[in-house]
Amino acid sequence: MAAAREFEHRYKAAVEKNFDLSADAYDRFEEQHHLFETLTCKQLELIEPSVPERILDVGCGTGISTLALHQALAGRSPNIYAIDVSERMLLRARERCRSLPGVYFIRGDAENLSAYFKESFDAIFYTASIFLLPGFAESLRQASSLLVPGGVLSISFYTGLFDEKGDDAIRKAFPEQKYTYGAVPIGELVSCLDTLPQCRTMRVDYRFEVSREFLFAFLSIPAQSAGLYPKIPYLERIPKVRELCDLLLDRVNPVYMGWEFMIVRKR
Ligand SMILES: C[S@@+](CC[C@H](N)C(=O)[O-])C[C@H]1O[C@@H](n2cnc3c(N)ncnc32)[C@H](O)[C@@H]1O
Repeated sequence: MAAAREFEHRYKAAVEKNFDLSADAYDRFEEQHHLFETLTCKQLELIEPSVPERILDVGCGTGISTLALHQALAGRSPNIYAIDVSERMLLRARERCRSLPGVYFIRGDAENLSAYFKESFDAIFYTASIFLLPGFAESLRQASSLLVPGGVLSISFYTGLFDEKGDDAIRKAFPEQKYTYGAVPIGELVSCLDTLPQCRTMRVDYRFEVSREFLFAFLSIPAQSAGLYPKIPYLERIPKVRELCDLLLDRVNPVYMGWEFMIVRKR
């Protein structure tokens, strides 16, 4: 128990540090490829017919998901609360959304939502963040209790890189290479969602082909490359990531990126 807590503590400190280093690379990647905006818009489409007005954005990063939610719901004048543990990511988020009414950023731990929020929400979004939370079960339990009846949790989960047949592309191209992104096995997440009281989950797969440049830009975000080369300093990882992308596409082509959306409705 003490060892598990110690692991969680160290893992969370590493995530915060990795994302503090990632703000620039993260925004450069997004400017070119619009991945996180696309995920957020799809998560919003998938909760239809719900049109939320009080929203919580968990792990809001540099505010891409927050802005996408605000733009899509602008006609409803939504109130959006957004929480993240990384001060550097939040600095950009505040800048990105500075002129938007009804948007509030909070620095805090997603695993302790009820310490920051007393109000209820129509929808709670985890865009590309749930797999970074070793205490995801507690975060989801608290999130579901912050939802109004009829409210919805909208989650995107990164499932990895795949070949045409749906096999793991990294394992296929580099049997020796460890590539773990995140602390949450999908099976454990799904089991946890099934135990949330009064809730029903719908799951939707999302895969798309990625280019060499997309892969390089994505995998060289510090928080990503740390999953490939945890022991190597950031700048030394970059040529390794370039080589890995080139070899990967020589050995597996096309490569697909995989996400799963989980939409959880509370009765
Ligand atoms: C991949 S980014 C996603 C950002 C954002 N949702 C978007 O779509 O652009 C994941 C974010 O989760 C945040 N995060 C990780 N662990 C967290 C925790 N325990 N509490 C709050 N935020 C956390 C990271 O700091 C990072 O900004």
